[in-house]
Amino acid sequence: MAKKTTMDAARTTVKAGNATAPAGAPQNAAQTARTPQNAARAAQTPQNAAQAARTPQNAGQAAGKPRNTQAAGAESNGSFPTLEVRNLSISFGGLKAVDGFNVVIEKGQLYGLIGPNGAGKTTVFNLLTGVYKPDTGTIHLDGKNITGKKTIEINQEGIARTFQNIRLFKDLSVLDNVKVGLHNHHKYSTLEGILRLPSFYKVEKEMNERAMELLSVFDLDKECDYKASNLPYGKQRKLEIARALATDPKLLLLDEPAAGMNPNETSELMETIRFVREKFGMTILLIEHDMKLVAGICEKLTVLNFGQVLTQGDTSEVLNDRRVITAYLGE
Ligand SMILES: Nc1ncnc2c1ncn2[C@@H]1O[C@H](COP(=O)(O)OP(=O)(O)OP(=O)(O)O)[C@@H](O)[C@H]1O
Ligand SMILES: [Mg+2]
Repeated sequence: MAKKTTMDAARTTVKAGNATAPAGAPQNAAQTARTPQNAARAAQTPQNAAQAARTPQNAGQAAGKPRNTQAAGAESNGSFPTLEVRNLSISFGGLKAVDGFNVVIEKGQLYGLIGPNGAGKTTVFNLLTGVYKPDTGTIHLDGKNITGKKTIEINQEGIARTFQNIRLFKDLSVLDNVKVGLHNHHKYSTLEGILRLPSFYKVEKEMNERAMELLSVFDLDKECDYKASNLPYGKQRKLEIARALATDPKLLLLDEPAAGMNPNETSELMETIRFVREKFGMTILLIEHDMKLVAGICEKLTVLNFGQVLTQGDTSEVLNDRRVITAYLGE
């Protein structure tokens, strides 16, 4: 089990049917709302159904379009899935943290990765972003094999992430945190920077404008001069997403974005994630324990349990799957 930090301990979000909860502990109302069963009901609301049908890919799936099962294969129209992972595994000592993981995520999809504590979810993100090198398996981004590349290269290829425990440059301003992310695409040479050549000011101006644009998406523009560490917790989480988006990714990975948020902040975050998908046409894979959030915004889910895929498919079906409920409740 991963060692928990103070931030984890301070979470107010109750983890769904937390497998580590004492057996027979009474479930409070918040927990009840976050069990897979209840979440599945929420996923079947007309709003969610309409939302799920909005993207062309989902319309295709609804129309019975076959799922892409080729390894890194192009679909009939010649385009690739944004992410295609095959047989991904890694062991730490004797522990198979991720064991034969597969997933295919189409462009524009909002995809959830769920599972009990210690199931291997964050390890999957660490494998996708080159923090760990897999023992087996392949990772294709937009048809390109990125397996084994370094973290910085993978970010430049188009995968950006946020972390389970927020990692901001705490002493930098809110604006500068976003500008750090913009350096993938806005560049000036060291010499231009030292000599303060006109090209330096031009790039700086473009970066300031772009950063402010991104901050306004997250309603953080008024706090642009604040030190990042002075923002309230919910806003720090949003700033991390803004910084990840600044790298202009094809795929955005969010590791427990609602952790530590109160219910109001969580519903606001759901709207923001939806908005990011719509506005930027972003493909998003998110890890989350808050089943209300998962059911409210994810179109597809993969459930990990003990490092292995327990099941995957449409959100409402997965959340109604008896095996998923059992895995969460540890029965
Ligand atoms: N670097 C590492 N060295 C040794 N074991 C590790 C390492 N990283 C992860 N693990 C182990 O791999 C397993 C999966 O951990 P991981 O953090 O991926 O779980 P998780 O599904 O993200 O859990 P949570 O919901 O609690 O965040 C755990 O048993 C963890 O202790
Ligand atoms: Mg984790």
